[in-house]
Amino acid sequence: MILDCDPGHDDAIAIMLAVADPAIDLLAVTTVAGNVTLENTTRNALRVLDMVGRPDIPVASGRDRPRVRDLSTAAVMHGESGLAGPLPVEPSRPALDAPAIDVIEQILIDADEPVTLVATGPLTNMADVVERLRHLHSRIRELVIMGGAVDLGNWTPAAEFNIWVDPHAADIVFRKARVPGQGSPADGIALTMIGLEVTHRAWLTDEHADLLRSTGRTGQFVAELLDHFVGFHQDRFGWEGGPIHDAVTIAHLIDPTLVAALPMNVQIETESPLCIGRTVADRWSVTGLPANAAVGLDIDRDRFVTLLMERVSSLP
Ligand code: BDR
Ligand code: CA
Repeated sequence: MILDCDPGHDDAIAIMLAVADPAIDLLAVTTVAGNVTLENTTRNALRVLDMVGRPDIPVASGRDRPRVRDLSTAAVMHGESGLAGPLPVEPSRPALDAPAIDVIEQILIDADEPVTLVATGPLTNMADVVERLRHLHSRIRELVIMGGAVDLGNWTPAAEFNIWVDPHAADIVFRKARVPGQGSPADGIALTMIGLEVTHRAWLTDEHADLLRSTGRTGQFVAELLDHFVGFHQDRFGWEGGPIHDAVTIAHLIDPTLVAALPMNVQIETESPLCIGRTVADRWSVTGLPANAAVGLDIDRDRFVTLLMERVSSLP
């Protein structure tokens, strides 16, 4: 698996879940500007891998801004550093010299079997994969993204943050996508969209933070992340917990029975000032357009939380 992300509290936990699962071979972490600047998302990815004792996993930074729009960040939620909560620590190493797209290309060329891509930030790097690595699409098993919503947005009434930051990149990805298990790589990359219908049910609370706090170095670190992240969601939305959006992508790959998904046609709004970044998902097949993604609609929250807590507690 290659995990493309913008850490970010929930991205950080997604990285940890991928590292902790024995069946996942995390080949690289690539970073994109989103929650905070590229410099900070890259530093955070490196830092998280240090924390879990995996400084051997390559990190490469990708695009530092969306395709067309100016970069808007979510520093209000994640802090200027992107990982508000724990005390800042500098990573033990720099990122690779090569840009993310080159690293992804080389991994796809070298891989013995198809590679799964996971994207938990804006889709700017993934649009590059679609456009620039066409010759390697048959080596991509599938792409699982956290992004979008069938119903309401979270960053605007119409749009979810990751898609809203770079709707033009998302448009490229969704136009060249297919439902997993249908068609062939020539038809596009198999795409699963884990949106807010799913991730808003995937929350952890202060109690989970307290349980993790005593499980060791990583547990303490995650607890401090949750202290900030859960607190933000309590204050801003009045929710009991904080949704660990990005970790659901990894959980879905570990256990495909956790998330219920349906094939749908999804188009991205790139023009309307009111609705830009909306994932227009044809839930009831009213357009007659072919489905281009499996879209998550629900999750077994209890099993998700059990899996996440078990795996994170197992880290150093
Ligand atoms: C998404 O936005 C970011 O703030 C989170 O990391 C997640 O990927 C949720 O809308
Ligand atoms: Ca993210």
